Amino acid sequence: MAQSAASTGQRISLHGNWSSRLAFVLAVTGSAVGLGNIWKFPYVAGQNGGGAFVLIYLGCVVLIGLPIMMAEILLGRRGRRNPVETMRILGDEEAGQPSWAVVGLSGVIAGFIILSFYSTIAGWTMAYTIKAASGSFVGQDAASLGAQFGAFIADPFAVGFWHTLFMAITVVLVSLGVEEGIERAVRFMVPALVILLLILLAYAVSTGAFAAGVEFLFKPDFSKITGTAVLAALGQAFFTLSIGMGAVMAYGAYLPQDASITTTSFAVAGADTSIAILSGLVIFPIVFANGLDPAEGPGLIFQTLPLAFGQMPAGSFFGVLFFVCLGFAALTSAISLMEPAVAWVVESFGLSRQSAAARVGLIIWALGFLTVLSFSHLAEFKFGRGTFFDNLDFLSVNIMLPLGGLLLTVFAGWVMCQNSSADELDPGVGPVYRLWRLLARFVAPVAVLLVLLNAFGLFD
Ligand code: TRP
Repeated sequence: MAQSAASTGQRISLHGNWSSRLAFVLAVTGSAVGLGNIWKFPYVAGQNGGGAFVLIYLGCVVLIGLPIMMAEILLGRRGRRNPVETMRILGDEEAGQPSWAVVGLSGVIAGFIILSFYSTIAGWTMAYTIKAASGSFVGQDAASLGAQFGAFIADPFAVGFWHTLFMAITVVLVSLGVEEGIERAVRFMVPALVILLLILLAYAVSTGAFAAGVEFLFKPDFSKITGTAVLAALGQAFFTLSIGMGAVMAYGAYLPQDASITTTSFAVAGADTSIAILSGLVIFPIVFANGLDPAEGPGLIFQTLPLAFGQMPAGSFFGVLFFVCLGFAALTSAISLMEPAVAWVVESFGLSRQSAAARVGLIIWALGFLTVLSFSHLAEFKFGRGTFFDNLDFLSVNIMLPLGGLLLTVFAGWVMCQNSSADELDPGVGPVYRLWRLLARFVAPVAVLLVLLNAFGLFD
């Protein structure tokens, strides 16, 4: 299967190509924008003290996330296979080391773990669509909405049902192929989500605690920063950009040769970061106006947003619209979490796309019950970082993604010859390429390594 370096320009994807550059931008945007921006960013920022965490997170996005995203797309387009096979081909081609395939494989596994809990939380948003529609938030205060949420997540049958439904929809969409559905969903959903967030922002301003929210989000208090907080900021940057496990690499494999990887990466990272910040600007004023705890954890948006929808005019309408959009945003992300595994199973084991998606989906679905039960029957079963959910989240997001990203950027920056990477990014080797190479070779790998070592106490 491996071809010589000279013929890589001719290598073509086995799953077809994106119909246009815009289709690719939309797909990567759809992957990046999801629960990470609206559910995870506010609660992780809240748990880690706000301002200083946000600043470090932004630094991680620009200095580490962006170069790694570019590296992933360039590797994907050069290999034109699923992440496992792409790393095997490129490892062999560039260095005679097909064992680089292991990095792709660990990405596939990270995708399994992440999607298993992602689907559970996406199920929460589906359930909350119904709650919004039935007027369950109207006239409720923070305490009763908190109780409502507590009762919901404590019911493994309800949560398991929605998790099952979400996984089923994901499997169907992935079975349909590379392009079908994703493009249309993203085209409608991302702008709609932004408009709804702006409406919520108006409500957040009206709570009277907007200044407190802004201060929490942007005034850095470095005394709150620990090694674990920096690791969380790094993990969040990887998670929100969908990098470190081969998702954007898998998408890069379908990218036409003439599309600019740099422009795409900047656009996606910019949109993704703006949506996360916007979400924080909505959530924290509501938190402070109602005496809630910013460090509440994964339930944060499910206890704050219903307050807004219960009080603002036409709140039930906007509430339904918001949770539907969030569900779509989660779907377009979930698809990308499954794509590397499915493409790998199709290419390596010769299954049809449908049966590959069904099998992969079944495993992830089963694994998901560890998270479903982490909020009910297994809520008191704690080890390591906490519940099963806490451990799966920490292992995949804070460890596996940064490690995966580290290896990918080392490969693209050090192992791959300059001709090959310049060929994909900028054959003229202009200033942007040189800056990328500097970040990909030195800044990103060293920073990731230091953060990981620091979090595990090597500098104490
Ligand atoms: N970025 C998505 C979000 O913010 C989640 C996601 C999709 C993801 N694909 C990924 C995270 C790949 C890590 C790796 O919701």
